[in-house]
Parts: sequence; structure tokens; C-alpha cells
Amino acid sequence: MLSVSLDGIKPFVSESDMNEVYYDIEKAHKTLAEQNGAGNEFLGWIDLPRDYDKDELARIKSAAVRIQKDSQVLLVIGIGGSYLGARAAIEFIKSPFYNQKKKATPDVLFVGNNLSPAYISDILELIKDRDFSINVISKSGTTTEPAIAFRLFKNEIEKRYGVSEAARRIYATTDRSRGVLKQVAEAQGYETFVVPDDIGGRFSVLTAVGLLPCAVAGLDIDATLEGAREAMEACAAMSGTNPARVYAMGRNALYRKGYNVEVLAYYEPNFRFMGEWWKQLYGESEGKERKGIFPASIELTADLHSMGQYLQDGERKLLETVVTFDRPIKDIIIPAQENDGDGLNFLAGQGLHSINAQAFKGTMLAHIDGGVPNIEIACGAPNEHTLGQLIYFFELACGISGYTLGVNPFDQPGVEEYKINMFALLGKKGYEEKREELLKRL
Ligand code: PA5
Repeated sequence: MLSVSLDGIKPFVSESDMNEVYYDIEKAHKTLAEQNGAGNEFLGWIDLPRDYDKDELARIKSAAVRIQKDSQVLLVIGIGGSYLGARAAIEFIKSPFYNQKKKATPDVLFVGNNLSPAYISDILELIKDRDFSINVISKSGTTTEPAIAFRLFKNEIEKRYGVSEAARRIYATTDRSRGVLKQVAEAQGYETFVVPDDIGGRFSVLTAVGLLPCAVAGLDIDATLEGAREAMEACAAMSGTNPARVYAMGRNALYRKGYNVEVLAYYEPNFRFMGEWWKQLYGESEGKERKGIFPASIELTADLHSMGQYLQDGERKLLETVVTFDRPIKDIIIPAQENDGDGLNFLAGQGLHSINAQAFKGTMLAHIDGGVPNIEIACGAPNEHTLGQLIYFFELACGISGYTLGVNPFDQPGVEEYKINMFALLGKKGYEEKREELLKRL
């Protein structure tokens, strides 16, 4: 199981600071475990790694095999919690270059996560002359960005294959019974997968939302669920050594001391979208009632050459959480050179993974000296099992953290504001008054 070290925050919080937060964490964890806090109707993810629908998992695997056989590209349409997890998992386990690589599995392209005509035109170009299937994912079934993308790509796939073959190639992941997407799927005869009622978007990566695209890309989804189950057991412990509690305790102790920006740092570019997924999980769960740590992410060592100055010496409100792996995805040994013209022979024979690890240690100490508290999340091998552990660990720590902060971590009322303004400006029926009000301000 992954472990969390708070050694790097010791210079910044006293023992009594930690003791104070300890009791709040304990209380928050109990509230979560007993399922009697705010938003408790959205806790289906807590037991999911054990209680997931086994028949649905079998259908996910069969659908993945079918897509692998008949498609060169899987187009995944979704946004937020219906997008980031699958992309994060595929890039982490396979590679950010997954689509460019020679492989037996289809490319996976993501669309519906913006309103950019340039982006959508590029995707249209990329699927030209290539067999494709669509997995449209929307829990509500009404989100504008994926709905627009689905309209466009449904036209495209029907033009290409005809309506009935297109219907065989479209897979809808949505609510069990509600929403426009569910109605369309039923009317057209698409195969559907369920986002359970009691699991919110950003906690849904271990449902069909994440598992179908991952299975198509060839990830071992059983190992992911197994890793999540292991984390579920470890993170259920009502003890101060429970890793989810340790992490929640560290970041909350620091928040109370004024550290209100958390940068998630990683030394493997494969982890970039895990950072994006984590930002949504924590930002959307905690940023409420004018409270919450702002989640940011940095890719190291790259960003040491762009953000390094600020991290080392800018305004002091940052805390840094570093995710490390004790084994490389792959390693490369530095060769010796006869004349040592570049002066790098002192590294000859070493693997890049261990050089990267020294970069991490050096950076951590420098940042601590510069006034940035460091939390380390140390993982084993970067594989599907660890992926499952990380997902569950971050989710549970997020629930504990949100309750410790005193907010409902499972709703997102603030996300509606922009939608209301956008619909009003676009002239949607029912938004006339708001439209007048907004136009006066523009
Ligand atoms: O976490 C959330 O609830 C959101 O980020 C949603 O996942 C996102 O808005 C997409 O919603 P939907 O799946 O309903 O299209």
C-alpha cells in the first residue's frame, strides 16, 4: 500500500497544531464512515471496489473487446468527472504518447471537454478514413459541451455507417433512468452503462465512466479494482496511521496555518492527467463557502525551469505534495563516454530513474528550506494496481478533508453559475430576464 510522509511539514506545524487537527480528522472520518454527514446520498464510491456490479463489469469487458475488433479509434465524449479519470488512467499506465504508438488496441481520443471549434475540427480530421466507435459519457445526460459534441459526432458516425450500424458502435454511459442521453440511447438501441445514482461525477472513475475507455486501451481493469479494494481496506482503519487520514491531516494542519495553495508535484510526465483529475476532485469538493485549498499541479523537473523561482522564493502560501514511485515505468542507463566532453561521466552507469529520484530529494530539501512544506505520497510500481490504490486513497482523503473543512464535499453548486449566464447569453428559452440583465453589463 502507498504511504504518506509528513516529515517535510514538521518545520511548519507544531505538535499542538497537529493534535488539534487530529481530533477533527477523527470526527470527519467517523462522519464519512457512518454516512451521516452532508451529501451522504453520494457515498456509493466508498464500497464500490468490493460491491461493484459484476455483470456490468463483464459487459464492459465484452464491449471493450468488440470495440478493439471493429475500431481503430474510440472517441470518448465527456467533460469533468466524465472525462478526466479515463484520460488520467490511460496516460499514466500506457503513456501520454499512447495514441502515437504502434499497438494492437485502438487510439482513444477525447472530445466534448470544451467548446473549441479548432479542437473539434482536428478530431474530425483524425477520424477521417478510420473506423471508430463512440463512448458518450454524461451522468446528467444534459451537459452542454458533451451534448454538442455528441450531436456533431452522431451525425458523423451515422453518415459513415448508416443509422443501425452507428447505433451498434455507440456506447452510452449515463444515469440508470433519467436524462436526455438515456432517452436517446433507449430510443436508438445503444448499449448503455450506468453511473450509479449515489456516485458523483468526480468520484466515478472506477465505474463504467473510467473502466470502459481504460479496458479499450488495454488496461488491466481487474488489477485497478483490486488495488482500489486494497486501499479501501487500508483507508477504513479508524487509526491515525491510516494513509488517507495522514494526508488529510497534513494538508488541513497547513491550511489552518495559512497555506492555501497545494501543488501536486510529480516527476513522471505520465502522471500529468492524474494531476488534472486530482485538481477536479479536490477543487470541486472543497472550494465552497469561501473556503478551501486551491489545487494546482506541477510537472518536475520541467517546471523547475519555469515555476522553480516562484516555488523557491515567491509568496509563502504554498504546500507541495509530491507523488513518487519506487520503480520506473522503464529505465535508461547513462552510457560512459571516453573523453567525458560533457562532464557527465560521474553519472555513467546510473539509471535515469535514480537520477530523477535525487532530483526529487534535492528539490524537496530546497523547497523546505525556502519555506514550502512537503508531503510525500510514496507509491510502489506505476501500474494498474497502484492506480487503483491512488484513486481510492485520494477520494477517501478528499471526503475526510472536506468534512474537516466543514463543507459538503459531494455537491458542486458553484458550477451552475456559469451555465446560467451562458444559456442566458445564448438566448435559451426561460433565461430572458437574466439575458437582459447580463447584456446591460457587457
Ligand atoms: O463532478 C462532477 O459532478 C462534474 O465534474 C461532472 O462530472 C461534469 O460536470 C460532467 O457532468 P455529466 O457527467 O453530468 O455530464
